[in-house]
Amino acid sequence: MIRAGLFQNNPAFGKIEANVEYVLDILSDVKFDLMVLPELFAAGYLFENREEALALADSPGTGYTFEAMRRLAHEKNALVVYGFPEKSGDRVYNSAMAIYPDGRFLVYQKTHLFNTEKNIFSPGESGFSVFDFRGIKVGMMICFDWRFPESARKLALLGAQVICHPSNLVLPHCPQAMVIRALENGVFTITADRAGDESRAGQSLHFIGHSRIIAPDGKILGELGEVEPAQLVVQIDPSQALNKSVTSLNDLFADRRPEFY
Ligand code: ACM
Repeated sequence: MIRAGLFQNNPAFGKIEANVEYVLDILSDVKFDLMVLPELFAAGYLFENREEALALADSPGTGYTFEAMRRLAHEKNALVVYGFPEKSGDRVYNSAMAIYPDGRFLVYQKTHLFNTEKNIFSPGESGFSVFDFRGIKVGMMICFDWRFPESARKLALLGAQVICHPSNLVLPHCPQAMVIRALENGVFTITADRAGDESRAGQSLHFIGHSRIIAPDGKILGELGEVEPAQLVVQIDPSQALNKSVTSLNDLFADRRPEFY
């Protein structure tokens, strides 16, 4: 069993230090083995242009947000996953970072960019991959990747037992869709969404909250409401995600017939 958690926040655009400190403060006396934070949780979402995103972006393994999350992973002896704008030359990716307690880290770059993100970010090139944390296979996808079932399917076929899903959701259907993503792949999913509103760059967005942790049988193990910034931690048994049996004669993966797809 591990303690798997998420954080739902409502960041102030560009106030990286204050947004990070807010999270650290609330998590200071919370125990967890895995914590997932939202997409772009410290920077904010609505960038005016690529230059503004670049100015708030970090190269992997550097920057205020990374240092704070590295310390958090170390102090809690936990895996910490969060979304951040990733600087790479003059490109900026909408990325997720996973940091181990010893400071090692992995980066996933968002594959499916949403709407005007296409004006800001370069499409991710990392592709989907899974990594090991204490014998558990973990994968990452970001927000709008949910709308492409191939994202979670690819991670599950690679062996993911837990899918970490940092998000900034604006369309209404994702919380329900993630029940299906968990069920159709027999995996745990952790969608850490943001709440609140952001008005910048000629746009006004409402983020829908409803962060949730879902079991391989589709059961919602914990969820937050639309507005509250809060953390949530539940006990999960990742070994449940190794069993892909549907009936005594059906197996979710062995019964696939990709020659017909
Ligand atoms: C989204 O992908 N942030 C909607």
